[in-house]
Amino acid sequence: MVLVTIEGIDGTGKSTLLAALRERLKDLDPVYTREPGATWVGEAVRRAVAEQIDPVTEATLFVADHAAHLATVVRPSLAAGKLVISDRYSDSRFAYQSVTLDGIIPGPERWLRAMHDGWSVVPDKTFLLVIPVDDALARLSTKSGREHFERREVLEKVQSRYLEFARAEPGRFVIVDALLDKDEVAGFVADAIRQVVADGKKHKRK
Ligand code: TYD
Repeated sequence: MVLVTIEGIDGTGKSTLLAALRERLKDLDPVYTREPGATWVGEAVRRAVAEQIDPVTEATLFVADHAAHLATVVRPSLAAGKLVISDRYSDSRFAYQSVTLDGIIPGPERWLRAMHDGWSVVPDKTFLLVIPVDDALARLSTKSGREHFERREVLEKVQSRYLEFARAEPGRFVIVDALLDKDEVAGFVADAIRQVVADGKKHKRK
């Protein structure tokens, strides 16, 4: 029925937000899912990231994981009339891999988008959590074993890519100030998701 995605650089508090949404949106009975996903393809992605095999290998595995995610979770859930809320989705690829593939593949964003065009499901709404990179890094520093994405230069670039996407698609993206109090963030996003679901139903009745 409706596909909502949550995006943002590492350290923006996506996990905290998702946990709060589980409490606040119980009555809507959403399907919560994520990328990289729960299949063995998702495991392969995590392994490639941990071993830092090669940026193209990593990017194509992320796309393979997306295909598996669509086939096993997203399409069946949407067909069953569910609200699907995904922790990361295609925009993660367009933001992160356009940075990691810079200088390796010509026009990486175009290449990545072309791999999704025509068959992937575009989200109805995307909440982009935005935070100064210093604050994101401070939140991450308590976690052990940072991924190679979690470096200042990478996160700065990834976040500016995300903000470019939001400017290009203002109807789909909602920018959320992740420095706000966590209850305030959760309340705002939960209300906005309810509105998306209500609009989706209205749209269907027409
Ligand atoms: P993350 O949501 O942080 O998973 P975990 O909590 O298991 O670490 O995602 C892992 C990393 O993968 C994160 O740094 C973002 C990155 N990523 C991409 O680079 N491209 C993608 O397409 C996706 C989905 C994630």
